[in-house]
Amino acid sequence: MARKLIIAANWKMNKGPAETAEFIGSFLPGTEELSQKCDIVIAPPHVSIPAASSLLADSVVALSAQNVSDQDEGAFTGEVATCMLNELGVQYVILGHSERRSIYGESDEFINAKVHKSLTADLRPIFCIGETLEEREGGKLEEVLRRQVSGGLANLTAENMADVVVAYEPVWAIGTGVTATPDQAQEAHAFVRSLLQEQFGSEVAAATRIQYGGSVKPGNSAELMNREDIDGALVGGASLEAASFHELIANAVA
Ligand code: 13P
Repeated sequence: MARKLIIAANWKMNKGPAETAEFIGSFLPGTEELSQKCDIVIAPPHVSIPAASSLLADSVVALSAQNVSDQDEGAFTGEVATCMLNELGVQYVILGHSERRSIYGESDEFINAKVHKSLTADLRPIFCIGETLEEREGGKLEEVLRRQVSGGLANLTAENMADVVVAYEPVWAIGTGVTATPDQAQEAHAFVRSLLQEQFGSEVAAATRIQYGGSVKPGNSAELMNREDIDGALVGGASLEAASFHELIANAVA
């Protein structure tokens, strides 16, 4: 089954509303053509979502949040609920990013609760997994990915999975300039696909898009996307400049 590429910008804690508007103004021209071969998503910080939402409304570029609460409303200081993202036309939400896992202590179980909450609210999770260098060097790659996939995607149906994008981001490649080689990435992606097959069956495994993340740049996006099981990218640093993100996507679809 042909899987359409999906490339998403994860801006992390960068760009307030003014910079967001400036970026979108320079980024949008030319995206219609790129979007024939690739779904394009931008994930600004929460406070910049209203600005992004109005500027992206008539465009082919989808809007994502970087996180969401597992609760609906109430006394949860600092949290943002799914219905608030719905109100702003947000379509995706990044969940389980390694920075949320390692800096803010999010567990597989907690991430799983957010995955369920998001799906109930028609938000598509971009569900992140990935091992640290220590885990990889200690021979624990498969064990870690297995735990993250089975825990984070627990109790989902095959139907739910149609709305889930998986992002494999080896922690040692995030923001370091060290990219996994296309072989390393392909090998991990094929393994993740085999886990999806065990958990949800072969149809879901064949249809689910698995992004690679970790120092993806205009210069390496093509060789990564050319591999069989790599269906897109989740991009940090190289998505912060419109020209660089544009070029990265253009190279990937070429
Ligand atoms: P970099 O592209 O800056 O390595 O970040 C990857 C990432 O964490 C995207 O979610």
